[in-house]
Amino acid sequence: MADTIIETRCIAKHFGGLHAVDGVDLQVAEGAMHSIIGPNGAGKTTLFNLISGYLKPTSGQVYLRGREITNLPLHRMAHLGIGRSFQITNVFSNLTVLENVRLSAQALGRDNLKLWTSARRFRRYEDQALAALQEVGMAEKAGLPASVLPHGDKRKLELAIILAGDPQVLLLDEPTAGMASEQVPALVEMIARIRARGNKTIILVEHNMGIVMNISDRITVMHQGKVLAEGNPAEIAANEAVQRAYLGESQHDEHS
Ligand SMILES: Nc1ncnc2c1ncn2[C@@H]1O[C@H](COP(=O)(O)OP(=O)(O)OP(=O)(O)O)[C@@H](O)[C@H]1O
Ligand SMILES: [Mg+2]
Repeated sequence: MADTIIETRCIAKHFGGLHAVDGVDLQVAEGAMHSIIGPNGAGKTTLFNLISGYLKPTSGQVYLRGREITNLPLHRMAHLGIGRSFQITNVFSNLTVLENVRLSAQALGRDNLKLWTSARRFRRYEDQALAALQEVGMAEKAGLPASVLPHGDKRKLELAIILAGDPQVLLLDEPTAGMASEQVPALVEMIARIRARGNKTIILVEHNMGIVMNISDRITVMHQGKVLAEGNPAEIAANEAVQRAYLGESQHDEHS
């Protein structure tokens, strides 16, 4: 059995009276592809915000390899090796592709405290950035302004931005959202490859059930801020409570 790398204990986030995340116990095994699914508004992004330090919980704790990290400031989380992407594309459009990634390498690099940057160190950040761009197949676009990239390439750039910080845990919030469907398989393959090659742990929020069922080792289903079910893809597919939660939703609104 792999060790647990990320754990939440009874974590909760309330916005006024709304219990967006309501006592979630999550254990993510090191090296796993662990997906979090659930209907719109289930609390998936809020849970990511709690794990990655963007939000402080109302109650409960977050652990990284057994060490409590609940109230550490955001930059400490990043330096400990937790990298995350956003549901909505988030790049500096007036910088080049390479500059976007280099900034991240510089900011998230584990040794960025020695930032009285020598030319040599600067080169190293640039090399790291190029390697990350290579990994996502964007090296030949390094010199372009990020603003001219089509949406699919922006999502790849975001992956490179996270990879440049060399995180141990990647939290990816709907990485395929808004992509043309013919581009989706290549991105999914890339994510699987990144994880396998770097022995990384990936926590994935994704609405596309085909993807989730294919690449996950483990799936946690959230509903109304709580964990509704957890298991491997076959167990989740067969779970009646899960089917009900999704059926109930499709009567009200569409998946994004
Ligand atoms: N900053 C906030 N202030 C108030 N309410 C919030 C805030 N962030 C999220 N919520 C609410 O918390 C609930 C959970 O939202 P969250 O974004 O975590 O859901 P989600 O599972 O990511 O949904 P989706 O699949 O649509 O992305 C929703 O009802 C949402 O409106
Ligand atoms: Mg969300």
